[in-house]
Amino acid sequence: MSQPIEDADLLITRTAEVASSTGSTARGGAALARIRVERGAAIAIRGGTIVAIGSEGDLRQRFRAARELDAREGTVVPGFVDAHTHPVFAGTREDEFEMRTRGATYVEIAQAGGGILSSVRGVRSASKEELLARLLVRLDRFLELGTTTIEAKTGYGLTLEDEIKSLEVLELARKLHPVEIVSTFLGAHDYPAEYRDRKPAYVDLVLNEMLPRVASTGLAEYCDIFTESHVFGLDDSRRILTRARDLGLKLRLHADQLTSLGGAELAAELGAASADHLEFVSEPGIDALREAGVIPVLCPLVPLYLRVDREAPARRMIDRGLAVALSTDFNPGSCYLQSMPEVLTWAALRYRMSAGEALAAATLNPAASLGRADRLGTIEVGKQADLACFDVPNHRHLVYEFGRNAVSWVVKRGVVVHERRA
Ligand code: NIG
Ligand code: FE
Repeated sequence: MSQPIEDADLLITRTAEVASSTGSTARGGAALARIRVERGAAIAIRGGTIVAIGSEGDLRQRFRAARELDAREGTVVPGFVDAHTHPVFAGTREDEFEMRTRGATYVEIAQAGGGILSSVRGVRSASKEELLARLLVRLDRFLELGTTTIEAKTGYGLTLEDEIKSLEVLELARKLHPVEIVSTFLGAHDYPAEYRDRKPAYVDLVLNEMLPRVASTGLAEYCDIFTESHVFGLDDSRRILTRARDLGLKLRLHADQLTSLGGAELAAELGAASADHLEFVSEPGIDALREAGVIPVLCPLVPLYLRVDREAPARRMIDRGLAVALSTDFNPGSCYLQSMPEVLTWAALRYRMSAGEALAAATLNPAASLGRADRLGTIEVGKQADLACFDVPNHRHLVYEFGRNAVSWVVKRGVVVHERRA
């Protein structure tokens, strides 16, 4: 007996495979690699939610779909969740890129007044409209590359006014663009030029003026900090993050990126949602992250881009049960990259992650680090329909091939938001 016909908004047809991690909690250890791969599966979507996954024949019998979307024998995966980006900026920094190719280091460039401060000059002199226009172009690019959710940091304003301006730009973009944006206040990204000779006064400004104001606006969900010996040390980081947490913000940290300062241990101590970068994390730091359930957000292209010969011990972290996430770290200085597919390839090569591990670390785990794994990060009945289709025969090929954008279409909240021109 055939089932009664139900309505659907969208039916995804002719997939080579649908590949996804499963569940609503972050995965580490052997569970990271355990993804579900369904050859030729169709997907039915209603009201922005996945309502069925199964054979095309079965779903056609069960659903009357308002629209069909042809995967053309491509691979459908969950839309990527990029849990670490700095997308609100005006100018670019190709001059610094070239200086590094000639031997200058990231910290040398920063201490000479370039680096983050160069982007600060750009944001301060740009209007809200200009910043928004630039951000919208970048959001289009994220979508075209299969990313449907980003965490987005401020941190190039470094005055109360310019940090709020950056958060307001993110808020405007959220209303105008389908990419889902999770906002993070990063006022403690560096010391602005006018505070270089009185750094404690800048920490006080963040503590006493910026944080209370940011928290009262409700414009940021997370607070991040650049915990590093040349910027915010452990004590100042602890003070700033503790105040942020007391004001209701959740925490993320740039930790142990350039030196072994103990940022990972601090992230664990404070119950942060994520500790990011971690190229120089210590063994006790790894244990502390695991004990506290902090998600390491790793950015495999950043050391390459900075010409730092050190990578995060991702394989060791995964094998010890940590639920690692992968990210671009998109920003104008240390990694001008928006492509999560590119990150997957590099995670395989540098971190020795399998295709299944890399996929879960680019979808479910970053969604968990953003507190959204109940809704995002997997293709399962009941989850939000955020999907990316690649014109490749299987998910392993998605990691194996690089340098070409293989995205054929993207669905966000059940709506087709990008289709590659034929
Ligand atoms: O994640 N480490 C600090 N923040 C960025 C770099 C920002 C910049 O150089 O503009 C990062 O690498
Ligand atoms: Fe960063």
